[in-house]
Formats: sequence, C-alpha cells, structure tokens
Amino acid sequence: MVKYEFPKDFWWGSAASGPQTEGVYDGDGKGESLWDFWYQTEPEKFFNQVGPEKTSRFYQKYAEDIQLMKETGHTSYRTSIQWSRLIPNGTGEVNPQAVEFYNKVIDELIANDIEPFINLYHFDIPMALQREGGWLNRKTVDAYVVFAKTCFELFGDRVKKWFTHNEPIVPVEAGYLYQFHYPNEINLRHAVQVGFHELLSSAKAIEAYHAMKLDGEIGIILNLTPSYPRDETNPADVKAAAIADAFFNRSFLDPSVKGTFPTELVEILKEIDHLPIYEADDLETIANNTVDILGINYYQPRRIKAKETPIDGTHGPMPDDYFDNYEMPGRKMNIYRGWEIYEKGIYDILTNVRENYGNIRCYISENGMGVENEERFINEAGQVEDDYRIDFVKDHLRYVHQAIQEGSNVQGYHMWTCMDNWSWANAYKNRYGFISVNLDKEGERTIKKSGHWFKQMTEAHGFDD
Ligand code: BG6
Repeated sequence: MVKYEFPKDFWWGSAASGPQTEGVYDGDGKGESLWDFWYQTEPEKFFNQVGPEKTSRFYQKYAEDIQLMKETGHTSYRTSIQWSRLIPNGTGEVNPQAVEFYNKVIDELIANDIEPFINLYHFDIPMALQREGGWLNRKTVDAYVVFAKTCFELFGDRVKKWFTHNEPIVPVEAGYLYQFHYPNEINLRHAVQVGFHELLSSAKAIEAYHAMKLDGEIGIILNLTPSYPRDETNPADVKAAAIADAFFNRSFLDPSVKGTFPTELVEILKEIDHLPIYEADDLETIANNTVDILGINYYQPRRIKAKETPIDGTHGPMPDDYFDNYEMPGRKMNIYRGWEIYEKGIYDILTNVRENYGNIRCYISENGMGVENEERFINEAGQVEDDYRIDFVKDHLRYVHQAIQEGSNVQGYHMWTCMDNWSWANAYKNRYGFISVNLDKEGERTIKKSGHWFKQMTEAHGFDD
C-alpha cells in the first residue's frame, strides 16, 4: 500500500466565481455585466437557454453553502467579487448592498475556519465599460485599479489571499480569437491589446496592494496548458510547441512571475507588426510588480505539431499560423467537455515552475471534471455516485504529491468546483461540483459521493492506495 500524505497545513478546498454562483435579484443593486448583456441579447447561445440570473443562488444561500463546504472538508474557498455588483457602472458609486453581501460571505467563511481566497476578475467586465471598448480601452485599466483598491480597502483587513485575475488568457482567446465569449471577434491585434491591458492592470493592482501594506499576499491565477510536441525528436514539432507555449502560457506566466515577456512571442508580434500600444513606463510597472503567489488551473494539455494545414488568412494573422493542434491517438478524453485528461501534466507544470520560475509559492487553484447528465448516477438515497470524480482527483493528487517530494512549493489544491455552477455558454450542461444543485427545486443541494470522500481525505491529510 502506498500512502499519499500531504502537509498538515495544505490548503484544501474549491474554487468558484461570483458570476457563476451568485445569481441576480431584483433590487440587489447589481449592474449589468458582459454576461447579463450577452444572455439577454442572444439567449440561444447558452445551453438550454439557461442564463446567469438564478442558477446556484449563492447570493441567497451562502450561509447554507458555507456549512456544506465544512461538510465537504474545505479549509479554504475561492470566489470572486463581481465588479458589476460592487461598482455597478464599472466606475463611480459603490453598491452598499454588495458591500454588505461580500462582508457577510467573508465573515461567515472565517467564522467557519475556511480561509477566503478572493479573486477580482473572472471574465466579467461591467457592460458600461465593455460599451466603451472593454479591455481594448486603456481606461478600463484605470477603472480596474480603482475597483481593486476599493476591494482592498473594504475587505483587506480580513482577506489575506488576493488574486488579480482568473485565467486572463481566456478573455483574449474567447472574446478576440476563437469566438466563444462576447464580443466574439477574430482579431489578433485586439487580442494582444486586451491581453496587455489585463496584464498591466494586474501589475498596477499588485503595486497598489503592496503600497497599502496590508498583512496578506497577492497573486494571479493562470490556466497552464503544457504544450507537448507530437514528436520530441522532430525539431519542427518542438519549435511549434514552444510557440504555442509562448502564446498561451508564457504570455502571462513570464511577466506575472518574472516581470518579462517571452522573447519568441515578442519577436513574432514585432515581425507581423502586432505589438500592443503601451506607454513609456508600462514595462517598468510590469517588471517591478510581480506576484507573491501563483494559482495554477490545470485541466488539459495542449498537443502540438508543426504547421501542416494551409494558413487561413481570412482574419489576418492568428497564433495558429505557427502550429497545428495534434490529436494524439489513444488519448484519454473527458468526452462531455471534449478535453483530454492527462494527469501527469499537473506534475510537469509544477516541475517547470520549480525549475524555471524560482519555485514560486503556488497552489492548484482549479482542477476538475465536468460531466453531463449526472442524474444517471443518482442512487436510492438521492446522492450522485461520482466515483469517476474521486478517481480524477486521486489521479492528479498522486502527481502533486510526487512534485512535493521533489521540492515543489505547491501549497494547496482547489477543486473546480464546490457546488455545480453556471459554466458560461455551457450553462448547466456539465456538472463539476462536490455538491449537486437541482435547478428544478430552487437550487436544492445534495453532497455527492466525491464531497464525502473529499472530507475524509482532507481530514486524513491524504489517502492510501
Ligand atoms: C475554468 C474557469 O476555465 O474552467 C471556470 O476558471 C470554468 O470559470 C471552468 O467554469 C470549467 O470550464 P467550463 O468552460 O466547462 O465551465
């Protein structure tokens, strides 16, 4: 028997976000976010036309939910403060009901010995700012810094773990390259500018946080997708994989942790005349304000081969001009989400961070498995028997454990997610939670088998095989 034992102070918990859990209620003072707007204008783009309004109802049920977190072994929990709830127009007036709500959530978590990890931006720009260009417009950077400072002032006495952005590459890819988030553009120039502004806003928020000398730390959460070449002995495949890595991982990882941009990426963007517009001292701001801690979201690897298909120039240059995605024969798939499951990827990321990023303190901020139609697995007691999720977590934790044995500074593991929540355009198609949510019964919660297992496992600080 092998024992996978984790440090006693390892953070165990889950992650979620404001827009995916809270809901929207008459009279709550919340302003319109990009998601509220997009759903109202094109509801057919959302699975079963389910929008962000009611869904998980964390706004009403947070106290009950925090008890369920305890019952599922959480010692920490990440959510985000919705910018459009706190500052409904993106700039200006603060919504007092939002302050009250987030205060209650934070206090309730702490009262239950669950450490709040608070993220500031999870794909949810206030629509008033999006109407003026969103992250394309530099004014959004300034507005974001005011929002960030407001959060630090209001909640920084109790919140000790802050994150500037969750997966900042996603608004770039989804909104400006591959059309799965509003505004659904295909425009590399815009994509680069959006990414640069997000990054600059992160550095400026870090600068502001450190200047306030609060007793806590601040980082960023990145979805890292290790890029594996089809054939490691083929230099063209290896080069293509390195370029994909520069576009999708190192674009945020390098500046966030080291304060510099990857040379390969800068050279490509320079060559095609797509460098972002920036001001004289921006690069210094980025260089001087790197993260204290790194959150790593890991779901899937990226498999790459040298470009074989013709370049499609319809929309101008694209990252895909430099590589093709490779469907590795025999790969293990999560068929519901269409993502490859490759457990060793989590170890490869942690090793890369240890060897090439100064072994910065980090934690697994998301990992998880979305499964469709989990009602199939409900037993007579009304519980979802999600053994596949337990296996998924164990299979990844074994590699996290190995990384720790080899010296990785990884300090926790957060599952995506606590209770089934609203997955953007996929709405409630795939369920990710330790706790099921019944949409037909006002969001009734039931702990799944994995939730009970997680409690046992975290109390034992690991598991035996
Ligand atoms: C991460 C995001 O990319 O993965 C979450 O931080 C998201 O917001 C999660 O919900 C799962 O992905 P999806 O697209 O299935 O919801």
